[in-house]
Amino acid sequence: MTFLEAMQSRFACKLYSDEKIAEKDLLTILEYGRLTPTSFGLELWSFHVVENPSLRKSLYTACFGQESVLSAPLSIITLGRTCPYLDPDGPLVQERGSRFPGSLSDFVEDYRPYYDFLRGKGCLESWSRSQGYLAVANMMTGAADLGIQSCAIEGFDEDLVLALLGLDREDWTVSMVIPFGYPGEIARPKIRASLEELVVRH
Ligand SMILES: Cc1cc2nc3c(=O)[nH]c(=O)nc-3n(C[C@H](O)[C@H](O)[C@H](O)COP(=O)(O)O)c2cc1C
Repeated sequence: MTFLEAMQSRFACKLYSDEKIAEKDLLTILEYGRLTPTSFGLELWSFHVVENPSLRKSLYTACFGQESVLSAPLSIITLGRTCPYLDPDGPLVQERGSRFPGSLSDFVEDYRPYYDFLRGKGCLESWSRSQGYLAVANMMTGAADLGIQSCAIEGFDEDLVLALLGLDREDWTVSMVIPFGYPGEIARPKIRASLEELVVRH
């Protein structure tokens, strides 16, 4: 499949067959997430894979009873770190920053003004959460290339999702929930506005 064909074949799948996803395909999908870029290369995220039947049922409840979550053999949940972890002087940013070829202090002084700007606007946590969206897009398109469908889900109760993962709201914010599996329904045609409507060239 070309990239365009994968984009065209992916659709928001609401019903999945019983067929399991092979481990190597799951690892490939996760690799697409891992290789996704993050702002300042900080990778302040994690990807949780939910396969356990009882956890899948709890996730279904946390997603307001969306059938896609129940019928899919697994869901991947993308999470972002909360504000304290984004501190330029904190251990996580320092560890991440120290991986780059330049000096850590140069890295931190590059990052600090943007951190201060986001903090001043009260946007730090949404910045962290939004990083996961890029990973989701890559994992979904990459999965379609393997014949595996998915559905981006923003409709969830964050407290319930964190509780079933055993995570603390002080540490993590939920970015998105994505069920993955082989489709148990016919692909719906794309409904999209035209490029003429969407694109403004300057
Ligand atoms: C950010 C985001 C949140 C979404 N949340 C949900 C959701 O909670 N439940 C759902 O069934 N679909 C959800 N969708 C799927 C969209 O409704 C769907 O992708 C859109 O209608 C386009 O259809 P297509 O993906 O088949 O091209 C979401 C999609 C995005 C991008």
